[in-house]
Amino acid sequence: MPTRRSFLQRSATLAGATALAGSLPSIVRGEPNSKKLKIALVGCGGRGSGAANQALTADSNCELAYLADIAEEQADNALKNLTAKHPEKTKNAQKFIGLDAIDKVCASDADVVLLTTPPGFRPEFFQKVVNAGKHTFCEKPVATDPAGARRFMEAARLSKEKGLGCQSGFCWRSSLGERATFEQIEKGAIGKVMSVHGTYLGATPWVKERKPEWTDLEWQLRNWMYFTWLSGDHLVEQAIHTVDKMCWAFGDADPVQAVAVGGRQQRVEEQYGHIYDHFGVTYEFSEGRRGHIFCRQQSGTFSETADHIIGTEGVCHIIGSRKLQQITGKTDWRYKGPSPDMYQVEHDEFFASIRQGAPLNFAEKLAHSTMVGIMGRIAAYTGKAVTWDELVNSKEDLRPKEPLRWDMKLSVPEVAIPGRYPLV
Ligand SMILES: NC(=O)c1ccc[n+]([C@@H]2O[C@H](COP(=O)([O-])OP(=O)(O)OC[C@H]3O[C@@H](n4cnc5c(N)ncnc54)[C@H](O)[C@@H]3O)[C@@H](O)[C@H]2O)c1
Repeated sequence: MPTRRSFLQRSATLAGATALAGSLPSIVRGEPNSKKLKIALVGCGGRGSGAANQALTADSNCELAYLADIAEEQADNALKNLTAKHPEKTKNAQKFIGLDAIDKVCASDADVVLLTTPPGFRPEFFQKVVNAGKHTFCEKPVATDPAGARRFMEAARLSKEKGLGCQSGFCWRSSLGERATFEQIEKGAIGKVMSVHGTYLGATPWVKERKPEWTDLEWQLRNWMYFTWLSGDHLVEQAIHTVDKMCWAFGDADPVQAVAVGGRQQRVEEQYGHIYDHFGVTYEFSEGRRGHIFCRQQSGTFSETADHIIGTEGVCHIIGSRKLQQITGKTDWRYKGPSPDMYQVEHDEFFASIRQGAPLNFAEKLAHSTMVGIMGRIAAYTGKAVTWDELVNSKEDLRPKEPLRWDMKLSVPEVAIPGRYPLV
């Protein structure tokens, strides 16, 4: 079990690696006589299809060699969409279907694996891919509970020792506007950061009606967002972007403790599993500095994604819907530079770094921001003030206790009641 100190030692290495410089490194595309990079897509849904398109666009000498999923129609749809955009680079693609598809990818000759399944699988899959010696792109979040975050962190350290790359799906870190803004903050444009207020307020995403032939496992996997073992709840699954930007503003330091509220008011039906539909979290950092995260998934309500960072000498506003990044106070500044697609930048830089022989590796940062999100969820579920020490030593492991089988019985956990849900 890691101590707080050991987690800190690892996360301390994150400082300074907050972001690449504000400009793109020179892109080295695969030369015709270079090694052809074989890509495997694991989790062929919406984001996976997007990431595969970006990977195939990023490098001229690569191909989609494998698609892995539990559902054949997902792999077929992704392949159809990708073939329309990259006919030459997809013509040899093979499919692996089933709960063991990841093992087939690990045993294959794939060089780069895109991990875009529901996050509950990320720690196990990342560990397997690192053991198999492959580079990864990991979508956020990378775990749904402390046990998973620790497992991911251990594999992250191994991936560094092995010189492997791990690109992060915290896409705002690849947005040139956000990079330039946080660079200003790091240079002291608003003085010392004292407070962050971040919102991720939106509607309920899709839900798939249960078909009579679906087993418990198939139903939960197809509606993975609504089950905490798979998604981490929407604070960890979706608003984690806001949590990650708060972490960025505080220099990726560990919070001291978190206090939170949350619940389920609008979507209370069985089809929505057992997750909450709103959270409010206050994270306390050193010297009493605080980050406040509000997130909601309730249809028909006000929508917003915004970050307000308050320093001793100024204020920074990042407003998603207005594409605004602005600083006022001691410094008056507004981002006016280019805004290329951040998802493409992610893959351009990653493949360039592989070609240059120095693969980018943000695995530890992925694990750290994910753990901060999990801290907020646990604070809301338990109703306790949860310290970082308690969190990094928490035994919470939400995965089913037996290996996954399609015909296994899986009940739906009770909705967490603060004051009764245990901190383990
Ligand atoms: N960075 C972003 O802006 C962004 C946007 C959307 C989603 N995401 C993240 O991407 C991930 C995927 O989200 P999505 O919207 O594409 O979901 P999705 O449901 O569209 O796709 C998930 C896919 O994984 C497959 N899958 C499930 N379990 C699997 C397993 N054990 N092995 C192999 N395949 C499995 C599903 O069948 C499905 O095809 C999530 O972590 C999500 O948080 C990130």
